[in-house]
Amino acid sequence: MWKTINNGGRDGAYWTEGEGKAVILIHGFAEDHSVWEHQTAFLRNHYRVLVPDLPGTGRSQLTTPLSIESMAEFIYEILVAEAISQVTLIGHSMGGYVALAFAEKYPHLLEGLGLFSSTAKPDSEEKKEGRQKSIRMISQYGLESFFRQMLPSMFAADFRTRQAPMIENYIQQALTSGTTEGAIAYYEAMMARPDRTEVLKTIKVPVLFFIGKEDQAVPVDNALSQVIMPAVASIHLFDQVGHMGLLEVYEESNLILHHFVAFCQHSS
Ligand code: MLT
Repeated sequence: MWKTINNGGRDGAYWTEGEGKAVILIHGFAEDHSVWEHQTAFLRNHYRVLVPDLPGTGRSQLTTPLSIESMAEFIYEILVAEAISQVTLIGHSMGGYVALAFAEKYPHLLEGLGLFSSTAKPDSEEKKEGRQKSIRMISQYGLESFFRQMLPSMFAADFRTRQAPMIENYIQQALTSGTTEGAIAYYEAMMARPDRTEVLKTIKVPVLFFIGKEDQAVPVDNALSQVIMPAVASIHLFDQVGHMGLLEVYEESNLILHHFVAFCQHSS
C-alpha cells in the first residue's frame, strides 16, 4: 500500500507491505522504489518492507535545499510515522549514501546496514568534475540522452546485450519518475556529501556489501577498500555484474538480503 507523509511541507511517499521486522530499501540516482521490485516481492513474505520514492522522484515531491542528510531525515520521518524502533536499512548507490547519513545520526535505530554498489568515501575531485560535466549535459540535452549515455557504467556489457528490453524498461522508468531539476539536485547533493568511512569503522551492527566487479559508477577498488572497516561485514562480490546487481542478479540479491536481515536480527 502507498502511504504519504509530510516531508518538510512536501509530500513524501513510500510503498509498504508484509509483516515482521522492518526493512527499508532505498533506491539510487535515476531510479524509484520500483528498482527494488524483485526484492520487495521476495522479502514481503518474511518482513515488513518499506520502499520510499526519495524526494524529487515519483510520488515524492522535491524538497529544497536537497541534501543526502535531508533525504536521511525523510527516512527517519517514515520510521516515526510507522512507529518503527529498529530497522535494517539497505541502500543502492545514492541510497547507500542516504543510509550512511542515517546511520551516522541515528545509530540506535539500526539493526543492520546494507550497501549495494555504494561507498562511504566522498567524491574525488575527478568525480566532482565528471558530475559538473553531467549537470551541463543534463541541462543542455535533457534526461533521456544523459541516461542513455550512462548505460555502460550501469550494466555489465554482457547483460546489456542479453537484456535489451530490461534496459529499455530501466530508461523508461527513470524518465517517468525523474525530472531534470531532481537529477541536478541529486548530483549536487552527492558532490556535497562528506567522507563517512568513520561511520563504517564505528558501526555496531552488521554491514552488507554487494559489489559488482564491472561497476563503473562505484568501481570495485573503491568498494572493496571499505569492506574491512566494520566489525562485522557480509561481503558479496560478483563477476560480470555492473552497478545494477539488484536487477542483473536479482535472485541472488533476494537471497543475500533475506539471509542478511535474518542475521542482523539474530545479532541484535
Ligand atoms: C547511483 O546509482 O545512485 C549513482 O550512480 C551514484 C553516484 O553517481 O555516485
